[in-house]
Amino acid sequence: MNSAVAFDIYGTLIDTQAVLTRLTELVGDKAPAISKAWRQKQLEYSFRRGLMGDYCDFSVCTRQALVFSCREQGVEATDELVASAMQAYADLDAFADVPAGLAALHGQGLQLHAFSNGSRTAVQRLLERAGIAHYFSSVVSVEDVRSFKPDPAVYQHLLRSCGVSAAQLCLVSSNPFDVLGAAHAGLRSAWLRRDPASLFDPWERQPDIILEGFAEMTKRLPALFQQASARPLA
Ligand code: LAC
Repeated sequence: MNSAVAFDIYGTLIDTQAVLTRLTELVGDKAPAISKAWRQKQLEYSFRRGLMGDYCDFSVCTRQALVFSCREQGVEATDELVASAMQAYADLDAFADVPAGLAALHGQGLQLHAFSNGSRTAVQRLLERAGIAHYFSSVVSVEDVRSFKPDPAVYQHLLRSCGVSAAQLCLVSSNPFDVLGAAHAGLRSAWLRRDPASLFDPWERQPDIILEGFAEMTKRLPALFQQASARPLA
């Protein structure tokens, strides 16, 4: 039986820290507050649009969240500022442990997929820039179902796209809401704890495994797939 691993993109494979550097150039000491609010608002907008059935490209959520976060800090979101910060977001690099980790997983015969709120074009571009696109069998985007994580429909779309059973598909994400979304939809789930200070939500569901880094995956993911089947689909 084939086994597949789907990776979240922003914050999991792709390091979003560089946007803070660009924001610091643009807005000085307000950068940390704007950067934090930007990510939170970006996700909030995607959650709200998912619930409302008012889909738009994820880059629209990102742009509108940036404008809100600047205004909240009393910073004028000029066209130049927005264009420069959005360009930094489009040019992000992979975390340092990603290329070797993907090579090892690929070498173990696991099918690898990218799975994101981002458009297929935006994600493909990031993977190519980072020199890791060739490890992936596919880039699966929520754009195909016009909704956002954690709508169960997007995880079911991922499952159909990968062509394996739910027990043989694991989502790896640094975002607890994404891990819970995958688990709720019946997939295997792994929380990659990129930030040692981050907490997992104290819900009734927890990830199948918690990983402190990419290197651990090569040992722990194959073992996970040998365990008895995952939960029924949501
Ligand atoms: C993504 C966001 C949720 O890549 O990180 O889908």
